[in-house]
Amino acid sequence: MSTYIFVLGKDSELSVAELSARYPSSNPVGKGGEFAMLELNEAFDQKEFNYLGGQIKAGEVFAKVTKRDLISSIADNLSADHESGKLNYGVSVYGLSERNLRLLLLDLKKEFRKRGIGSRFANQNFINISAAQYKGLKGKKEVLVCKDGEDYHLARVVAVQDIDGYSIRDFDKPFRDMKVGMLPPKLAQIMVNLTGSDGTVWDPFCGGGVLIMEGLLMGHEMLGSDINEKTLHGAQRNVQWVTKEFSAKAGADLFVHDATRPLPTKNFDAIACEGYLGPPQTRLKSKREFNPVIAELSELYSKFFRSLKAGGFNGPVVIGLPFYKTREGELSLDEVIRGIEKMGFKKDLSLKYARKDQLVGRHILRFRFS
Ligand SMILES: C[S@@+](CC[C@H](N)C(=O)[O-])C[C@H]1O[C@@H](n2cnc3c(N)ncnc32)[C@H](O)[C@@H]1O
Repeated sequence: MSTYIFVLGKDSELSVAELSARYPSSNPVGKGGEFAMLELNEAFDQKEFNYLGGQIKAGEVFAKVTKRDLISSIADNLSADHESGKLNYGVSVYGLSERNLRLLLLDLKKEFRKRGIGSRFANQNFINISAAQYKGLKGKKEVLVCKDGEDYHLARVVAVQDIDGYSIRDFDKPFRDMKVGMLPPKLAQIMVNLTGSDGTVWDPFCGGGVLIMEGLLMGHEMLGSDINEKTLHGAQRNVQWVTKEFSAKAGADLFVHDATRPLPTKNFDAIACEGYLGPPQTRLKSKREFNPVIAELSELYSKFFRSLKAGGFNGPVVIGLPFYKTREGELSLDEVIRGIEKMGFKKDLSLKYARKDQLVGRHILRFRFS
């Protein structure tokens, strides 16, 4: 068993929830919103890390020290497998201000000089190493210094976010429809992980198929459906593309289906979807102006959950519902959510995801009928 540190994405609560769902026995503990620590039995590598949408970096912990032993411990670790020539490395700090990095890097350089080792740190302008910089770092030596109370956990980076892969999947896929709205691939991965399932996942509002694509790459059998035939055709093109470009092994079954109707002919273990978010919002409105949208979405989602209940589905349902920025503040689908709970679906996760400039955010919820 090893202890790992994960540097969390911007929405740190979602990131910790993702770790808890994917590694249920690892007991992840979030530390101040910047990083989380967890114990993993299984070997952890870049391939596994690529299935996590909410994490920036992962490092294997090699020491817990106080300030006094910080520099010597980092130097010991970085120089342990160094043979000759200049030692190239990077250091990033979490749980403490990046302002501390300058002194730390200079002290470390002094320490290497004392030990007769020529060294060069990759941190530019004394700031943390980015995922892109790590990829270019000779020897891939980066240490994470994570402050937790009076202690410093030190970890050697073993994996970083595959920024190029995300960008290719986000922007180069053949079918993109801005009107439908597109789920960021990282959030799609988080949602698949939040199901906690390794079986077949159904996205009943699949749109252009972002969640299907990510689920496939994570090794899940996927079912995807949408009421709109043209959109479904786009999803088919995207899935074919990702299967070829990224050599996905699992398969996807895509079909036209109205999510408010039961689906007795298919087997699935979990549901993960971003539902219909209402019409695109182009200006800040008042809460009152949303009444027709809320009424439409209430009907859609109550019918959807009613049909799941009628079909006897009692697996996890991870769903992204919209919430809106209005002149009077945030407007969530509270009534809709209460209605789902009244039907007998227990809610055990409720977290919001939005960028500052967005008028429509995503409220990520997890339900299970009980
Ligand atoms: C916000 S989009 C999903 C976008 C998708 N996650 C993506 O990244 O491409 C919602 C989708 O729900 C579909 N939809 C709306 N009502 C539906 C219904 N009753 N049954 C099935 N799909 C429906 C729409 O056609 C649309 O493609």
